[in-house]
Amino acid sequence: MAGKAPAKKAVKKSPKKSAKKPVKKSVKKSAKKSAPVSFAKDIKPLFNATDVSHMKPMGVLLHNYSYMSDAAGGHAHAEAVKSKVQSGEMPPGAPWPASKVNLFIKWMTDGYKP
Ligand code: HEM
Repeated sequence: MAGKAPAKKAVKKSPKKSAKKPVKKSVKKSAKKSAPVSFAKDIKPLFNATDVSHMKPMGVLLHNYSYMSDAAGGHAHAEAVKSKVQSGEMPPGAPWPASKVNLFIKWMTDGYKP
């Protein structure tokens, strides 16, 4: 029995999870224990009458909870809105500040609450 080193337990480092995470990094700052973002209370007021009236004929119903929270296509409606406000394309000529964009994103990551 001599001479043999005690069997080494292979302490495996926990495998790194793949870096494939959904995009939700901008929430950090407000992630403490803030109440979930509400569509009626927090999100709807972000869109003014001009936004709503210009987008309605294009079928983008900014003030409509069912439309905005629709899960179809991986929440395609909310994703499209997010993408436009994040890029600054919408509203045209009056890009949202990061605070508004982040609030919208938090509404999404909080689970599209009414
Ligand atoms: C926060 C406010 C707004 C949001 C979130 C928004 C969102 C969007 C989205 C998601 C689309 C793509 C629609 C599609 O491809 O089917 C779009 C297109 C468009 N929006 Fe808006 N919109 C906003 C405000 C406005 C305003 C105020 C105007 C006009 C003054 C406007 C004019 C247009 C036009 C002309 C298009 C078609 C051309 C393009 O895609 O760039 N939008 N918008």
